[in-house]
Amino acid sequence: MMLTLWTWKVQALLIFITFDSVQGGILKPCGHIIPESPIITPNTKFTAICILKEECVNDQHLNASHIFWKIKNTYIPKEQYTVINRTAASVTLEDVSSLGSLLTCNILLYGQIEQTIYGIQMQIGWLPEKPKNLSCVVNGQTNMKCQWDPGKETHLDTTYVLKSEWPTRQLPDCIPPPGVNDSCTIDMVVVFVNMDVWVVASNALGNVSSDRINFDPIDYVKLLPPHNLSVSNSKELSSILKVSWANPVNKPFDGLKYNIRYREKEASNWTLIPPEDTATTRNSFTVQDLKPFTEYVFSIQCMNIEGKGFWSNWSAEASGVTYEANF
Ligand SMILES: *[C@@H]1O[C@H](CO)[C@@H](O)[C@H](O)[C@H]1NC(C)=O
Ligand SMILES: *[C@@H]1O[C@H](CO)[C@@H](O)[C@H](O)[C@H]1NC(C)=O
Ligand SMILES: *[C@@H]1O[C@H](CO)[C@@H](O)[C@H](O)[C@H]1NC(C)=O
Ligand SMILES: *[C@@H]1O[C@H](CO)[C@@H](O)[C@H](O)[C@H]1NC(C)=O
Ligand SMILES: *[C@@H]1O[C@H](CO)[C@@H](O)[C@H](O)[C@H]1NC(C)=O
Ligand SMILES: *[C@@H]1O[C@H](CO)[C@@H](O)[C@H](O)[C@H]1NC(C)=O
Ligand SMILES: *[C@@H]1O[C@H](CO)[C@@H](O)[C@H](O)[C@H]1NC(C)=O
Ligand SMILES: *[C@@H]1O[C@H](CO)[C@@H](O)[C@H](O)[C@H]1NC(C)=O
Repeated sequence: MMLTLWTWKVQALLIFITFDSVQGGILKPCGHIIPESPIITPNTKFTAICILKEECVNDQHLNASHIFWKIKNTYIPKEQYTVINRTAASVTLEDVSSLGSLLTCNILLYGQIEQTIYGIQMQIGWLPEKPKNLSCVVNGQTNMKCQWDPGKETHLDTTYVLKSEWPTRQLPDCIPPPGVNDSCTIDMVVVFVNMDVWVVASNALGNVSSDRINFDPIDYVKLLPPHNLSVSNSKELSSILKVSWANPVNKPFDGLKYNIRYREKEASNWTLIPPEDTATTRNSFTVQDLKPFTEYVFSIQCMNIEGKGFWSNWSAEASGVTYEANF
């Protein structure tokens, strides 16, 4: 935006070369517009003022009643102008969003030559919407990722900051990485202490906070999946396979329950072991009623035995082959 304005100002200066004073070798335009860089919300009134330079007014026998306004190449009707005094006049726009963004203050020189005094870029945007649907997940016990719905595009630079506090103190702000407007990851998590979390969205038009959510991070834990899966068969029983694993180490509670799924190597459908059979902490499980000499693939997920929080991701798969049938 600055680049456009600069290019444009240079053009204006060249036009005004006879009409202006040289100060220290730099040409100054014959007037300016306030505000210089307005940010306007659609469906609102906007007023700009063009202020002419005293010396230009005197040199050219002009006054503010000679000012006319344009948006890009379109003339704004005279009824929208107000002459404030000899050097200043204003224009009021009802709804900029439908008009365009380059607003210029112009005068008619010698009653016939249109000259542009100054131009501004009007930026059109919205106040951020209130962020909605804030929710958090504690990954293992290492970090906590909170997500939200940022709402409608604002068309302005808008920053999102995740705020959190304990009853006793405010915690450092979490600032999403560049380009991210809907989540932030807090590095440190303390469980068994209730915390308040909320999001503040800010831009040039103001700031808006989400509702606060209050929770104990222990209730939002998503563990790492079980790892180091291995599958072993049995010479005695060609219908069973035993899957073994290591439980996640970094966890804020002891009791775990599992989902164990398996399928024939070539099949696409998984079979789930009935959850009631896998509702206690363990590191192996024997699956029965399998076909002999068949390759099966296994995968496991785990969570807090009390059912609070979320299931882990499914583990990496491991496979094993049942023993051949001995008739
Ligand atoms: C501005 O100039 C016009 C003539 O161009 C004149 O009629 C008018 O009175 C002037 N207004 C002021 C406020 O000087
Ligand atoms: C004319 O009005 C403008 C805007 O209100 C103001 O900045 C300026 O000082 C005024 N000039 C005179 C000569 O009163
Ligand atoms: C936000 O939450 C509401 C109710 O909790 C739900 O109906 C809606 O689909 C959610 N929106 C998004 C974008 O997740
Ligand atoms: C959030 O970022 C996405 C992707 O960069 C973008 O499409 C979306 O418009 C942004 N939303 C807001 C409210 O800034
Ligand atoms: C939000 O805006 C208010 C004024 O409207 C200001 O007092 C407050 O500090 C701002 N908060 C943030 C987080 O920018
Ligand atoms: C779970 O899987 C998703 C998608 O593959 C991945 O982005 C995420 O990091 C995984 N989370 C954990 C805790 O393993
Ligand atoms: C997996 O098991 C092997 C040996 O049984 C061990 O060396 C390795 O550290 C284990 N990996 C993990 C991630 O626990
Ligand atoms: C997979 O499951 C669907 C529905 O449960 C069933 O219709 C289909 O036959 C199954 N496919 C195989 C290969 O078992």
